[in-house]
Amino acid sequence: MSTAHWAKALLDTWGIKAALTRLDGEYDLNFLAQAEDGQIYVLKAMRPGCDYDLVDVQIGALAQIARSAPDLPLPRVIPAQNGASCLSLADDAGNERLVWLQTGLPGRCYAKSHPKTTALVTEVGAVLAGVTRALKDFDHPALHRDFKWDLMAADWVAAESGCISDPARRQLVDDICTDFARLKPRLETLPRQAIHNDANDYNILVAGELGAPQHISGLIDFGDMCAAPRICDLAIAAAYMVLDHPKPQQALTSLVEGYHAVNPLTAAELDLLWPLLRMRLAVSVVNSTLMAADNPDDPYVTISQAPAWRFLDKPAEHPALIAGRLRATCGLPVVDGADRVLAYLEKHSGSFAPIMNRDLSDVPMGSLSVENSTWPQNPFDMPLEEAAQVGAEFAGKDGSEWWLGYYNEPRLIYTAPAFRKGAYKASDRRTVHLAVDVFAPAGQALHAPLDGEVLIVEDRANHLDYGGVIILKHLTDDGDPFYTLYGHLDPECVTRLTPGDKIARGQAFCQLGNAYQNGGWAPHVHFQIALSTDGIEADWPGVADPDDLVLWNALCPNPAPLLNLPAEKTGYQPTDKTTVLAARKAHFGGNLSLTYQDPVMLLRGWKHHLFDEWGRPYLDAYNNVPHVGHAHPRIQAVAADQLKRMNSNTRYLHPAQTAFAEKILSKMPEHLEVCFFVNSGTEANELALRLARAHTGAKGMVTPDHGYHGNTTGVIDVSAYKFNAKGGVGPSDWVELVEVADDYRGSFGRDDPERAQNYANLVDDAIAKLRQAGHAIAGFIAETFPSVGGQIIPPKGYLAAVYEKIRKAGGVCIADEVQTGLGRLGDYYFGFEHQEASPDIVVMGKPIGNGHPLGVLVTTRDIAESFAQGPEFFSTFGGSNLSCRIGTEVLNIVDDEGLQENARLRGSELLSGLKDLHGRYPSIGDVRGMGLFIGVELINPDGSEATAICSYLKNRMRDHRILIGSEGPKDNILKIRPPLTIDAEDIQMILETMDSILAEVHCD
Ligand SMILES: Cc1ncc(COP(=O)(O)O)c(C=O)c1O
Repeated sequence: MSTAHWAKALLDTWGIKAALTRLDGEYDLNFLAQAEDGQIYVLKAMRPGCDYDLVDVQIGALAQIARSAPDLPLPRVIPAQNGASCLSLADDAGNERLVWLQTGLPGRCYAKSHPKTTALVTEVGAVLAGVTRALKDFDHPALHRDFKWDLMAADWVAAESGCISDPARRQLVDDICTDFARLKPRLETLPRQAIHNDANDYNILVAGELGAPQHISGLIDFGDMCAAPRICDLAIAAAYMVLDHPKPQQALTSLVEGYHAVNPLTAAELDLLWPLLRMRLAVSVVNSTLMAADNPDDPYVTISQAPAWRFLDKPAEHPALIAGRLRATCGLPVVDGADRVLAYLEKHSGSFAPIMNRDLSDVPMGSLSVENSTWPQNPFDMPLEEAAQVGAEFAGKDGSEWWLGYYNEPRLIYTAPAFRKGAYKASDRRTVHLAVDVFAPAGQALHAPLDGEVLIVEDRANHLDYGGVIILKHLTDDGDPFYTLYGHLDPECVTRLTPGDKIARGQAFCQLGNAYQNGGWAPHVHFQIALSTDGIEADWPGVADPDDLVLWNALCPNPAPLLNLPAEKTGYQPTDKTTVLAARKAHFGGNLSLTYQDPVMLLRGWKHHLFDEWGRPYLDAYNNVPHVGHAHPRIQAVAADQLKRMNSNTRYLHPAQTAFAEKILSKMPEHLEVCFFVNSGTEANELALRLARAHTGAKGMVTPDHGYHGNTTGVIDVSAYKFNAKGGVGPSDWVELVEVADDYRGSFGRDDPERAQNYANLVDDAIAKLRQAGHAIAGFIAETFPSVGGQIIPPKGYLAAVYEKIRKAGGVCIADEVQTGLGRLGDYYFGFEHQEASPDIVVMGKPIGNGHPLGVLVTTRDIAESFAQGPEFFSTFGGSNLSCRIGTEVLNIVDDEGLQENARLRGSELLSGLKDLHGRYPSIGDVRGMGLFIGVELINPDGSEATAICSYLKNRMRDHRILIGSEGPKDNILKIRPPLTIDAEDIQMILETMDSILAEVHCD
């Protein structure tokens, strides 16, 4: 169909001169019209023979919404010059078509928009709810037609499921149809109204650049409107929100939350949502299977089914839990009667029989939270001995063994794989305790708080399971059921009790097990309530995902009332991140930056993982300071040991100081003989400048552009990254910058065999300029591999060539190995080894203390002698006994645990995986690095620095629980430098996650 024909029609009929482009459409012709004044329209020429009513209903609905909810992002109908909203015009083949014009809306379709954040999905719900509310009283004969996309009439699928050849899938669809038939009478009791009926992911538009906040900019295509219960509309949108979503239940919840806030739903409607969603997917797959049979040569028909099948094939959560989550999200009773049960418990609290035959109100609480406790030492593995000791510090404080564990407390003690919800150590994990624990001596009798009946009595003998466990069923005075669970019992109860047994209020019915009987724990009862067992039956989760507490707090509320305790006593309140953020803003300077748009608060660590206040694990692929891993037990031990003894300075002899010096020097070339100990990389570099000046009597320094050496006045002057930054102090006349030896983006590329020498030659000019300015040469300082400059590996031999020139000019050569030293590079202990360069001064920091503040400078005897001619050198904390013991231990651990070799192996796995991604995604311009010092440079299609893509990747990696950084003059280089303990599984996680995020970037 010629666009020229329709452009003319647009001009003749609407008086709008515009350039037209054809848009996709199943039957009708749709054109995007870009008018000369910049306004965008959509011209719709319906299929020949289209019923006028089908257009009229849309025009009427859009007009009604425009009147009653003008802020909703919907197209407006533009009448023709003669005032008609819809006209009949001939196409270029002479066929009459109904033609109408709408305003165009900005944005791209939701299907191709990333990330699909909860905020965005919530907004979809809100927009849909607004539309439904605006259409409440709208009616039109066309809304009452029979057609296959009316979910109320979806029964047709049952008769057609035979078209699905795979028997399992056919059965699946049949089961969905059976569910639908069962719920249909309930559906029919709901009021019908006009609904959009097709809020699929191509009909929802999203505006917002990559990485910037996104919002819903349009809901289009009202062509499938019909009259049906509004929950059908939501179910259809929901079906598209969950497909291929990494957390479909979260998407569903967000959608409902957004909808409910604008157009409140009832519990009866919410209960229908999940089965209706599945029915809509069944309609889609059966419809496309039938179409595939009619169009065997059209592969698109089958491809389009794939996401629906992927979703339906996956085992789904129990529908009762889904319904409960949706109800709780909307503030409705999690099950019918839940509100009455809660009121009953509240009312009778204080008069329930004490479960341990004593008042618990004076029993102290003990916290095992992520924040307050260090149980277990390794949050990925808790050995039996540790489990048996958990909370030992609380028991016995007053000589008794009684204490209470909190409800709703995030804990790291649940280390078994069953608590993990994904493939990796940093995947989601269940951490939040849903019960109150009462710790008491083994053998302590338990009494029923009120009359009940045994529902379950079992011995779950696995390590760290419950041992003996009993579930009782109770009834309130009104006959509403609820349930109590008692875990970690002496399994003798199994031989005595059977389901159906009646237990009277106050009756002793079981006793606490010891560690051999109760799953391996210190003796206690895990006491939990549930307001329903639908979907959890005998297998209640005792611990929940912190991101799913809306459901679990509602289904398993704080059992304090049944223990005759106030809820405040047993309910845990973690430190709120927003409070800490506010306090930080109040107390700290504004240029102390925080990483991530939504900052993380991290409270525990182990090796290369960190944990936030809710126990969510993160893979730490960024922090190079915890070189041998977070919370290394050997570092803890030497620090504690030395602090027990004494901690003083270098004015007194101590063997730890000389031992540390000997250990460092054993890793150095022989000409470097003298050590200075300070407290940071900054201080070490500051000292390096003093040494260079003392030795040469000169001040002039040459340094590569974009370098960073620390935060004091002296080293900022040699840190272009700071002095040239916005608001920086600017260059000093005694410092000359040379171009970074970046053979990806710089003046001499990788195709230049002489690039090392060519970059080194730039130093000649710098030396000359310094001399012209009246400065003799004190030296050259460089990060051996520039890090903040963009994780750059200079061409081999570059530094050696530079050093030669500097020495010839009378200067000394300083290698800042703060980022690159101590085995991180895998093949080399220090970066200067790769460069075949022999520095006069080497500076170390960050990793050498593994988090303890420590900086070290190593130099030649000659330079040290020159410096010794000046005043006494003293650093109060530099070289403290504690620092020296820690530093030595770090270096020993690198050796003992083979961490340099691990850096080599893991680094090469990571680099080769990243190179593979480089081959597949054009936004990766370069992958470079050595060992676990790696940079990934992101570029725009024109090769320029892609700062937005880099920021998107960094923030999305964090969404997937991976911490990485970004650097470079344009902040477009991902910086990956994890603790050296990282293992192959975690490298895989980085690669797979980056692959999926790059796919989002490239989804167009
Ligand atoms: C290469 C380099 N040198 C020196 C420093 C300064 O070290 P510190 O922050 O311990 O003073 C840093 C810190 O980032 C660095 O990256």
